[in-house]
Amino acid sequence: MKCHLLHHSPLSAVLPLLFIALCFMGCSKKRAKYTIAVSQCSEDIWRDKLNDELKTTAYIYDNVELLFSTARDNDRLQQQQIDSFINRGVDLLIISPNQVNTITPAIERAHKKGIPVVLFDRKTESPHYTAFMGADNYEIGRIMGDYIAHILGGKGNLVEIRGLEQSSPAIDRHRGLVDALRQHPDVRLVDSRAGDWSQKSGEQVMAQMLKGGEQIDCVFGQNDRMALGARKVLEQQRPGNKAKFVGIDALATPTGGIQEVKKGHLDATYIYPTRGDRLMQLAMNILEHKPYKKENLLEAAIVTPDNAEVMLMQADEMNKQTDLLKELHSHVDRFLARYNYQKVFLILVILILSLFLGVLFLLYRGLVLRRRMAEETINAKLKFFTNVSHELRTPLTLITAPVDQLSADPTLSDSQRSLLGVVRRNTDILLRLVNEILDFRKVQNGKMKLHLAHFDLAPALKQWAEMFEPAVGKKNIKLHVEVPAHMFVMSDAYKLERICYNLLSNAVKYTPEGGEIWLRATPEGKRFRIVVEDSGIGIPEDKLKSIFERFFQVETPYTNGTGVGLALVKAFTQMLHGTVTAANREPQGARFTVDFPMEQPNANNVETISVVENKKHAAQTVGASAQKENCDTLTASEEKEPRKHILVVDDNADIRAYLAAWLGKTYHVTSAADGKEGFETARREVPDLVLSDVMMPVMDGLELCRKLKADMATSHIPVLLLTARDMDESRADAYNCGADGYIVKPFNEDVLLARVKNLIESRQQLKNIFGSETESKAQNKQDRNFTDKLREAIQKNLGDSDFSVEQLGGELGLSRVQLYRKVKAMTGQSPVEILREARLRRADRLLATTEKSVSEIAYEVGFSSPSYFAKCYKDFFGRQPKEMHNA
Ligand code: FRU
Repeated sequence: MKCHLLHHSPLSAVLPLLFIALCFMGCSKKRAKYTIAVSQCSEDIWRDKLNDELKTTAYIYDNVELLFSTARDNDRLQQQQIDSFINRGVDLLIISPNQVNTITPAIERAHKKGIPVVLFDRKTESPHYTAFMGADNYEIGRIMGDYIAHILGGKGNLVEIRGLEQSSPAIDRHRGLVDALRQHPDVRLVDSRAGDWSQKSGEQVMAQMLKGGEQIDCVFGQNDRMALGARKVLEQQRPGNKAKFVGIDALATPTGGIQEVKKGHLDATYIYPTRGDRLMQLAMNILEHKPYKKENLLEAAIVTPDNAEVMLMQADEMNKQTDLLKELHSHVDRFLARYNYQKVFLILVILILSLFLGVLFLLYRGLVLRRRMAEETINAKLKFFTNVSHELRTPLTLITAPVDQLSADPTLSDSQRSLLGVVRRNTDILLRLVNEILDFRKVQNGKMKLHLAHFDLAPALKQWAEMFEPAVGKKNIKLHVEVPAHMFVMSDAYKLERICYNLLSNAVKYTPEGGEIWLRATPEGKRFRIVVEDSGIGIPEDKLKSIFERFFQVETPYTNGTGVGLALVKAFTQMLHGTVTAANREPQGARFTVDFPMEQPNANNVETISVVENKKHAAQTVGASAQKENCDTLTASEEKEPRKHILVVDDNADIRAYLAAWLGKTYHVTSAADGKEGFETARREVPDLVLSDVMMPVMDGLELCRKLKADMATSHIPVLLLTARDMDESRADAYNCGADGYIVKPFNEDVLLARVKNLIESRQQLKNIFGSETESKAQNKQDRNFTDKLREAIQKNLGDSDFSVEQLGGELGLSRVQLYRKVKAMTGQSPVEILREARLRRADRLLATTEKSVSEIAYEVGFSSPSYFAKCYKDFFGRQPKEMHNA
């Protein structure tokens, strides 16, 4: 359980980091390549000096680790210490053996293990050492013997205090002394006893010697410490004696031998060299398999009152250098320590930073993924709703249009009418939803365009508010519309209407019975503001900011249902460079504020329109853009002409049947199930208008339109495309293929009827094919071509009284029926009438400009009988040809 907790705690992330950092810290100190162990037999300043020199020299070699031990003159302890070094696996041993034979077994063991052994200062009996370094103690003993004889003037009593009995320097120094004294027979060695190299032992030995009562002229201590100990006792016991004192070691410390010589406490001493530098060099040569000598003797010198001063100065200088070196090294050490610390710190910082960045990256990725998934879900939903919406439009058309038709029946009872009202209202709600989803999708796909116009927003707002009168009335809500008399703006009326519609319908929805709603509009300098306020339930404070983003995600008041309403408000507001905010009002209710620029940036050629429409029409919730497109056609005059022929092309049999039934009341309607069949029918029947769906199998409406416009027989026929697709590009496609109009399903039947009527009427523009240029310029290319050919054929054959309509059709590549229908549609006259008119006009010109007789002229323009000519002339011009001739 503890483990589990640890795994999830922040500590679990930090611990590995610390571990890595510690590893780095460990690694940052370079691992020593060699370990050299130094086993000292004793502990004193001479050995301290040696150890110091070893350490200082080791600095040069940055791959050496030094280990030290001191046996404090104890043989057993020294053996144990050496064994522990061997077990530890050191690379080389430097040993100063306490005595010649006691340490031998340990040295043998090291030898067996292959560890090189360097003996220093003292020797052993074992031959199994790698190298030796030290002074020649026999020689030192000999030199000191000569010097003693010299200061005694070749005569006197000498006593010797030896070092530790079985230590090699003690043995060698004694031998050297004895040999030297052979040359000086009057210098008598009256006593020689062993000490143990300590001052104490010097004191004790001297005390013993004095007991013999012998005259002592010189004391030879085998080291300075013992010589000084002896001096102390002799001074005490034989004050005023003149004995000389000689020692060995000559350390340059304050209590060392050289100072004592200088002070006159010693008469001479001998520099017993430490030379840690050379010892270290020897060890490294062995370790690195470089050449080295097995026996290495160190040179030294005697210190007497004559040179003590100089020696001290030299030693002092040396010490200063050594101290400087030490200081430098400690600086380097401190620097390295700081460097290592900083390195570790840096690594830790980098690790923590990487971890932090990693976590940050993971968090960010998670967020992005979650958001992407949410977006994908919303898109999938929206796609689904869009598809469903497209599918819903056609059946909705088939519900709304017949319902409208039925409602118009004056024989309906009140209850029947109100039932139909329920159907119509609910269909309207569905249609509104469908349109909002399609609009939102268009905004999302970037396909929603702005339709900018200059208009007076004030009356429009009033009218939009009026649409809510039944709804607010039912709930007894007071709707206050506070709008200036006029407010001219440049904006997209449809989008503003949708924004207001959504805000007002929300307000109505969330305002309880008897509440109040305000619709305010105010110009604010270069901007204008529309505010919709209600006394309803308000919006939870934490949802205020996100209320427009919650589309399809979270239900809050004002966004429930599909939630598309407010999302659309925001999308449209943004398209119009505006802002929308939601707030709660005091003491209760919500306030939505939309704010727009008075003029939209970068708008060109913006027309001025009137948004206010007749009430019935405005109450329809079908797309307002479709309403706008159709509103001017509503004023078209009533149909008085004989029945015109409409060809309905739609693959949906229900729609065909419905349109045939409905349009059949006014028009002669035939139908076709796809573009191909529609084209064939149109060529055959030459209808007055083709009303076609766009999406159809075999040949779609656009292709049909293109073919109709390219064919001489049908190019004049107005084509009205009818489609469930409300996309702007479809509209563009339609006009590009030459369509004369475009109506979106579900359509308002009045609008469709007005549109059909308007198109048929506006076709009959070409009153006279021999008329003005401007008239023919208004035609499409194919029709102009046709008019030109027709005119040419007539002019060419004017004089031929046998020239028939069939022949005229033949010249134009049309059948008699096609020619008749086309000419009739384009001009309102039959081809015969046109031909006759052409002849009469020609005759009229001839009568006015020539001397030819009426009969001559009648024949010339293709009349077979002058009397028939005269009749026709009178009918057409209202005067007799003769009158013209005489004029
Ligand atoms: C130091 C010492 C010196 C002496 C040497 C002999 O431990 O006692 O005073 O000269 O050892 O090994």
